[in-house]
Amino acid sequence: MIHHTTRAQLLLAVPVLLKWHRKNKRSFIWRGLKRSPYVVLVSEFMLQQTGTKQVEKKLPEFIRQFPSVKKLASASRAEVLRAWQGLGYNRRALHLHQAAKAISELKTFPNTLDELRALPGVGLYTASAVLAFAHNENTPVVDVNIERVLSRCWKPIKQFSQKLPMRDIYELDAAILPKGKSSQWHEALMDLGATFCTKKAPQCSACPVRGYCKTAGKLSSSVSEKNPSTEKRYFGQPRRIWRGRILNQITTKETHTKRALILHLKKLHAITEPAFVPFVASVLSSLTKEGFISQSRKGAITLAKD
Ligand code: ADE
Repeated sequence: MIHHTTRAQLLLAVPVLLKWHRKNKRSFIWRGLKRSPYVVLVSEFMLQQTGTKQVEKKLPEFIRQFPSVKKLASASRAEVLRAWQGLGYNRRALHLHQAAKAISELKTFPNTLDELRALPGVGLYTASAVLAFAHNENTPVVDVNIERVLSRCWKPIKQFSQKLPMRDIYELDAAILPKGKSSQWHEALMDLGATFCTKKAPQCSACPVRGYCKTAGKLSSSVSEKNPSTEKRYFGQPRRIWRGRILNQITTKETHTKRALILHLKKLHAITEPAFVPFVASVLSSLTKEGFISQSRKGAITLAKD
């Protein structure tokens, strides 16, 4: 049971998070496509175990090759597996193919949780994602990011990996999700979980909902008390965290300029210190020496070719 004062407190965070999201949402190909239930089903199948970068690359090809449930259902297994190459966990391709066959036998695309969950490879997450992202239905959607974000907001949490019981998270999400904005709300939670509320390096001091979160600022301090770290920090994080963030950013786009990369990071992590610029430059130069990236004289950065 969610206590009504807790609920009221969390409700205040809802418009704040939505406002943040309007300006800071991540743009992904599947969010730009017309989100038919079919496109959402395919993209969520892909996203179950494959990173966003790879899904961005493969999804448009897949939809071009199989533009409808009928087309996918009538393809051969080999064609589907070939189209799935590069995504890994091929069993998903088979389930998706079987699901398409099952759907094409029905009169309409399934549009209830139970009907969707009856499809091969479709669990509660994928079924609810189809309802929320294709139909904007007011149904709770809980993936690992959302589970973590809501757990931390709702109760004080001490360890990075600690989460509240799934049932409670569903109940909480159902109680606070803004009616008529389910699609945006769940994407906002996912985006917060991928940026400020990451599992191991949360950026509470810059988080848009820190004022409404029961865990804000508590995670890093309690962990460092137990395990006093001597690792030097730069702008709040060890160098390796920045390396990861920078390489991650470079991996998500074909090319970058150093300037644009720095501006992006400053904005994302609310950094104002001028010393951030030489710090990023030094991380880029180690990444270059170690063969991860190439930098041109003009400041263009690309992932190194192997
Ligand atoms: N938007 C909709 N579904 C998503 C997912 N699984 N990951 C990231 N963004 C999404």
